[in-house]
Amino acid sequence: MEKVVVLTGAGISAESGISTFRDSNGLWEQYPVEEVASIDGWHRNPQLVQSFYNERRKKMMEASPNEGHRQLVRLEQYYDVSIITQNVDNLHERAGSKNIIHLHGELTKACSERNSNYVVDIDGWEIKHGTLAPDGSLLRPFIVWFGEAVPMIEPAIDLCEQADYFVVVGTSLNVYPAAGLINYVPPAAKCYLVDPKEVHVARKITTVAEKAGTGLKKVVDELIALANAEKE
Ligand code: APR
Repeated sequence: MEKVVVLTGAGISAESGISTFRDSNGLWEQYPVEEVASIDGWHRNPQLVQSFYNERRKKMMEASPNEGHRQLVRLEQYYDVSIITQNVDNLHERAGSKNIIHLHGELTKACSERNSNYVVDIDGWEIKHGTLAPDGSLLRPFIVWFGEAVPMIEPAIDLCEQADYFVVVGTSLNVYPAAGLINYVPPAAKCYLVDPKEVHVARKITTVAEKAGTGLKKVVDELIALANAEKE
């Protein structure tokens, strides 16, 4: 089966009612990013950071996957689909996608602030401020904050280097190293971008200027038609 690699960002969860970051009224208009999404912010005020992620976890649990997530699941019947997401919600999993890499962590998990290899699933929406990991350090959200390394970038690069098709959906491509992944996609691969706004990409790409739900249906319909044509 040919390989489709999909890079998703906050925009694919927008139609599920989850705020993006840089759209108007986005999260970074409501919260100072350096206070709630950086390692320095955590050290300055862990309670504020914990509350920020508790609120986002609660919203995630109230949300459901949307048509965009479901179109990517549909594609798995025809291609070897891998999703590289910048999102920390679990909507791809709940839609039924199988191969998912979370570049920026997962809201459903927590880790020790001293040892990021100690990772536990969170039962419910809240990590109560002051909860300790077994090593005696604070239990923190399992999120990659600004100023921290992106441990999953190598496996993500490996996937991009094998892509026959590359689909970018719902990301402003503002944040590296995620935004640089497209540079590892072979020149012969066909690339698509689904976003209602214009997003600059420095290579030939088919743009579908629509929301994820309708835009991904168009891309998936085209990819399925290509797969069926190759069978004939
Ligand atoms: N369908 C598709 N795309 C949409 C939709 C929608 N319904 N609504 C908005 N978008 C697009 C916007 O036009 C924008 O290009 O989604 C993109 C969202 O961009 P950002 O808010 O910058 O989110 P993202 O690119 O995922 O941010 C990357 O930045 O703050 C960090 O760690 C955080 O993972 C995040 C990273």
